[in-house]
Amino acid sequence: METNNVILEAKGISKSFPGVQALQNVNFRLVSGKVHVLMGENGAGKSTLMKIIAGIYEADEGDIFLHGKKVAFTRPKQALVNGIAMIHQELSPILDMSITENLFLGKEIVKNGVLDYRQMNEKSAELLNRVGLNLPPTTLMKRLSTAQQQMVEIAKALSFDSEIIIMDEPTASITNREVEKLFAITRKLKDEGRCIVYISHKMEEIFQIADEITVFRDGCYVGTYNVDEIDEAGLVRLMVDRDLSQIYPERHNVPGDVIMEVEELTQEGIIDHVSFQVRKGEILGFAGLMGAGRTETMNALFGLTGPLTGKIRIEGKEIDKPTPRKMIEAGIGYVTEDRKGSGLVLDMSVRDNIIMASLSKLSHMGKVNFKKANEQSDEFKERLKIKTPSMEQLAKNLSGGNQQKIVLAKWLMQNPEVIIFDEPTRGIDVGAKSEIYRLIASLAEEGKAIIFISSEMPEVLGMCDRIVVMSEGVKKGELDKSEATQEKILSMAANVVNGQEETV
Ligand SMILES: Nc1ncnc2c1ncn2[C@@H]1O[C@H](COP(=O)(O)OP(=O)(O)OP(=O)(O)O)[C@@H](O)[C@H]1O
Ligand SMILES: [Mg+2]
Repeated sequence: METNNVILEAKGISKSFPGVQALQNVNFRLVSGKVHVLMGENGAGKSTLMKIIAGIYEADEGDIFLHGKKVAFTRPKQALVNGIAMIHQELSPILDMSITENLFLGKEIVKNGVLDYRQMNEKSAELLNRVGLNLPPTTLMKRLSTAQQQMVEIAKALSFDSEIIIMDEPTASITNREVEKLFAITRKLKDEGRCIVYISHKMEEIFQIADEITVFRDGCYVGTYNVDEIDEAGLVRLMVDRDLSQIYPERHNVPGDVIMEVEELTQEGIIDHVSFQVRKGEILGFAGLMGAGRTETMNALFGLTGPLTGKIRIEGKEIDKPTPRKMIEAGIGYVTEDRKGSGLVLDMSVRDNIIMASLSKLSHMGKVNFKKANEQSDEFKERLKIKTPSMEQLAKNLSGGNQQKIVLAKWLMQNPEVIIFDEPTRGIDVGAKSEIYRLIASLAEEGKAIIFISSEMPEVLGMCDRIVVMSEGVKKGELDKSEATQEKILSMAANVVNGQEETV
């Protein structure tokens, strides 16, 4: 493999945290003008290595060479001024500040003793232009979508003229169209001779964007490959080291009685007369493009958003003016797409996160049965294969994908009869995905009704008994497993009716 133009080389890097060997003697090198994808299961050590390179963590052992010179950054700022920028898995912009203030944080332009906003805004506008973000630089960060905040982060990297731009799961929560935009910018950056490190669990993306791929497994370096010398199956094998030929579980149960009925659910300007039913033991998929109104439907149903019209019946009983509390009491669980919003408390232990919502169910006369709570939470740790040295570990110390699993466990502990999963496998590696599919299938087998929202077509087709297709807040149709194909779903989702584009 080509070794010219090596910008950065990491040799023999090891790093441990209490109870965890996150990295063990790994090697890694980056070449200019390439997109370098880093892959591995949840907890494989990807983010940790990148944080070492970006000056956030210090390695226990090993050396990093930047342009052949040994470096050891102890602060992110040092890495940044030396050409290394990292865009984190969990963005943390200062939301009450403007784009300009975020871009110039720590390197404000001062003129005659005062901040020169005019000049900073001008420069910001230029930078925003380079990443194709057409917003006034004075816009507050909190007004921006996740994708737009990411673009600001990239603009910031450009303002430091970063040679290495690390993107840790940048597409985990952005729309398909925004992914296209991100890719266009990534390619531009690469053509300028920069190196982009790209971490993602989305296979189809990786093959669109990667030049080189490095695989980690359990904190160890497996290898680096040119994108044309490896295929998807090969990659999966390298990552998980076991056969995953059957990703989707076989399903045997037949759906039973209707447990929940939703009639003409409407929220002005958001969702329009959405009706569906779900049966015990059934997996009902919700497909559509990002922004189709699937999450909005579930938010409304669960009582998270404003007033609605329409009817919701659970086991025949109508729920008037739903609130999350009423819905939980009626046996509904909702694993939302946003794990921070789903109440993952980063400073609490894994165990407390899992049991906290179930405490009242585990109590008798005001006394919590902690023995049972511990047993049940241990069981979900096993079932979901949550990778943590102990249940007392703080949630913030787990890898991104394992945090996602805690949220799943928290809801499953409450033993709901209807469970809504919104993008449950986002940020989750292929091996763990298949475990989550099995778990969902076994819940259906137990008679639970499952609502499964996903933007990944193969998983909707692989898992669901029936698929509702939505677009722009409207239900476009419903397909049975036997008739559903990717093409049919897409044409429904894209407003095509009977082969003709709808003119709205
Ligand atoms: N600050 C920390 N304290 C304790 N353990 C940590 C810390 N950061 C990471 N770890 C542990 O190190 C291991 C590697 O984590 P890392 O975040 O690098 O994984 P990852 O490959 O990025 O996974 P994912 O795909 O889920 O994001 C995990 O077992 C994780 O729990
Ligand atoms: Mg990570």
